[in-house]
Amino acid sequence: MRKILIAIDGPAGSGKSTTAKLVARRLGYVYIDTGAMYRAMTLKVLTSKVDPANEQGVTELAKKTEISFVEGSDLRVMLDGADVTDAIRSEDVNGNVSLISSYPDVREIMVAKQRAIGAGKGCVMDGRDIGTVVFPDAELKFYMIADIMERAKRRQEELSDNGVELPIHQVVKELKERDRKDSTRDNSPLKKADDAIELDTTKLTIEEQVEIVLNYARDINVGSEGSVGKEEMQRK
Ligand code: DC
Repeated sequence: MRKILIAIDGPAGSGKSTTAKLVARRLGYVYIDTGAMYRAMTLKVLTSKVDPANEQGVTELAKKTEISFVEGSDLRVMLDGADVTDAIRSEDVNGNVSLISSYPDVREIMVAKQRAIGAGKGCVMDGRDIGTVVFPDAELKFYMIADIMERAKRRQEELSDNGVELPIHQVVKELKERDRKDSTRDNSPLKKADDAIELDTTKLTIEEQVEIVLNYARDINVGSEGSVGKEEMQRK
């Protein structure tokens, strides 16, 4: 069975992670949340004595950092052997992750890890630069977008699930600020790859988003569902 790499990029709250996770599960693929890697690195900086603004210090720290994923009923993010899945969703991390991920040497270290994890196996990887920089030859690329209010509502719910209650206007402000930083940085800015399929998820349910991606995957016959082509699916 042919195994491919599916790249899903887009701004925060566009539905990337939820979609990527479910698509990977349905295809029997590995799911890699690259945002979680930058978040874990940011958490490490915040809990160290290194000033987040000290690019050299942060880079040195990144060289000595182990980040990995453990797949079970959900994806756990490990930082130097400790489970940081919940800790990386804090407001403090949200506020500093764009700065840490703007450092070119930090990105180089993360991108090398991402290529090593994703190469040669069925993988769904989400982030900001997967289709443009990490795997420019990915067989399938998506660029997800959604209205700012819809994205803010999703992010507000995610924060609330983690015990943080914020008014919607503050979530909107933070998202806009992160969008601005992520898409204007010099190194690997957030942008749609020329050959990526744009998907506006504002009015889509999660199941619809997943089905759209799976239909494209079925068209090129991949994954554990790969032997069932789109036409066969329609005939059932
Ligand atoms: O997807 P997320 O919101 O968890 O990502 C957190 C931050 O990490 C995001 O604001 C920018 C950065 N990031 C990045 O620069 N490149 C990636 N491939 C993924 C995330």
